[in-house]
Amino acid sequence: MSQNGTPKPHALRTAQPSDNMNNGFFGQDIISVRQFSPEKLTYIFGVADEMETLVRRFGSADMLSGKVLANLFYEPSTRTASSFMAAMVRLGGRVIPINEVHYSSVSKGESLPDTIRTLECYADIIVLRHPEVGAAQIAADYAAKPIINAGDGIGEHPTQALLDLYTIRKELGRLDGLKVAMVGDLKYGRTVHSLTRLLSRYNTEFYFVSPPILRLPEDMVAEVKARGLKAVEVEDVHEVISDVDVLYVTRVQKERFSDLALYDQVKDYYTVDPELMKMAKPKMALMHPLPRVGEISYAVDQDPRAAYFRQMENGMFIRMALLAAVLGKA
Ligand code: ASP
Ligand code: CP
Repeated sequence: MSQNGTPKPHALRTAQPSDNMNNGFFGQDIISVRQFSPEKLTYIFGVADEMETLVRRFGSADMLSGKVLANLFYEPSTRTASSFMAAMVRLGGRVIPINEVHYSSVSKGESLPDTIRTLECYADIIVLRHPEVGAAQIAADYAAKPIINAGDGIGEHPTQALLDLYTIRKELGRLDGLKVAMVGDLKYGRTVHSLTRLLSRYNTEFYFVSPPILRLPEDMVAEVKARGLKAVEVEDVHEVISDVDVLYVTRVQKERFSDLALYDQVKDYYTVDPELMKMAKPKMALMHPLPRVGEISYAVDQDPRAAYFRQMENGMFIRMALLAAVLGKA
């Protein structure tokens, strides 16, 4: 386990003279946004800017040549899995993709610790998505090599929150003093949990917009308020739309419901359409971690404030920056 500045022992044993061991990420696990100080965020955003320039100019580099990433996904993914793969490949590394654990020995009953111990025999770093809260931490406790949390149940999705914050900064030019509305499934949405924690570092005014059964967990609301920040919970998005700088919309997380009748009651609660966008500020960022299943109508896609496709692309630059930093090449 290492998330506190000390590299995991394996990283030190295999370090090259050219490795950057003092970047604050070298040989570390990335499990929670709680690990990211403002300085670390600034560093990663700076490296991500450089990665974007690199991709636009050259497409790829050989910075991680000889390195191998194991991409271990126990839950479905399009963006996170493929952007980590693209990030590794564009930096000259290779990937072991395990996108459907059904086809791996997990379906024979192999445990998470043993699966992790297997993959680290072959790879230098492991990206893990798993349905249980805390799974990434368990993996990190067993692994000698770095683990990156790509979503642990309803817990966290730290790399998504990094790319979300990076996108907000790019779209609006600042992070301090923003009014941010989180809309949709705030109970089960791990991206909301991670982003709320990160934005709490800045002087953010929060509006939590959800159906009553999908409110943000009480401890998280308390966490925000304990920082002296404004946190208003509302049900109707019309109450806040004209005030906010960021509208962060999320999908109702069907896979977390044991009672699908309940899911049916809330699945179509909010739809962002051109009518709603007319009420929003002229300079505002409409974001969504994606996939969307009706929360934002296609008619909004051409609106310059619709940032979700740019947000998705930013994910690759952020993940390139993280891979390079953790492997000591940034
Ligand atoms: N893709 C994001 C996640 O895995 C958001 C979502 O699935 O709704 O958390
Ligand atoms: N945003 C996100 O995590 O997308 P995927 O579930 O497709 O990876």
